[in-house]
Amino acid sequence: MDALTALHTRVSVSRVRAPGPDPHTLEQIIRAGLRTADHGYLRPWRFLLIRDNSLEKLADLFAIASLADTPDISSGELANIRAKALRAPLVLVGIASPKPHPKVPVTEQHLSAAGALQNMLTAAHALDVGAIWRTGPMAEHPIVREGLGVSDAESIIGYLYMGTIDGPVRQLQEESISSFVQDW
Ligand SMILES: Cc1cc2nc3c(=O)[nH]c(=O)nc-3n(C[C@H](O)[C@H](O)[C@H](O)COP(=O)(O)O)c2cc1C
Repeated sequence: MDALTALHTRVSVSRVRAPGPDPHTLEQIIRAGLRTADHGYLRPWRFLLIRDNSLEKLADLFAIASLADTPDISSGELANIRAKALRAPLVLVGIASPKPHPKVPVTEQHLSAAGALQNMLTAAHALDVGAIWRTGPMAEHPIVREGLGVSDAESIIGYLYMGTIDGPVRQLQEESISSFVQDW
């Protein structure tokens, strides 16, 4: 798929299944992320790949965090929370990891890290890999942060769930450019 087609047609895919992207495809996706705009070339990010047996460990972490918040949580709700970690054969955790800099504020570094995830989503689409960016309480929970080794200075800015597209993909509507863009 050419670059403009990928940019114009990217769509999130929430239903994915195994297998996850093969090593070459995954490398292409990550390389796309690393080409985000990056003020000062600070590389203010890092990424964790969670797959195979680690997915169960992520599910356990989500469950432990939820139990800490709600000790009387029902087994059904707990199973639903665990299942969230197991929705895809690959979960890429996007971590904004700002670097001290006199001119580049932390907010800009977060924007740059977000750009990396967006580039990865577009690359995944171009390569026919289903992907969706999710956050939610498990992106901020202290138990999850600690379990994933996220420092106080860092933030989990998203989980990219990736895998083989499983089912129909949402049809896109034509965007109205004039709704968002004005001459000034
Ligand atoms: C920072 C961020 C966090 C998001 N978190 C969630 C989430 O937790 N759950 C969810 O269903 N969608 C979440 N989304 C939205 C989806 O990734 C997706 O963009 C949305 O469903 C619209 O689909 P589209 O990307 O195909 O237009 C998030 C998007 C962003 C940018």
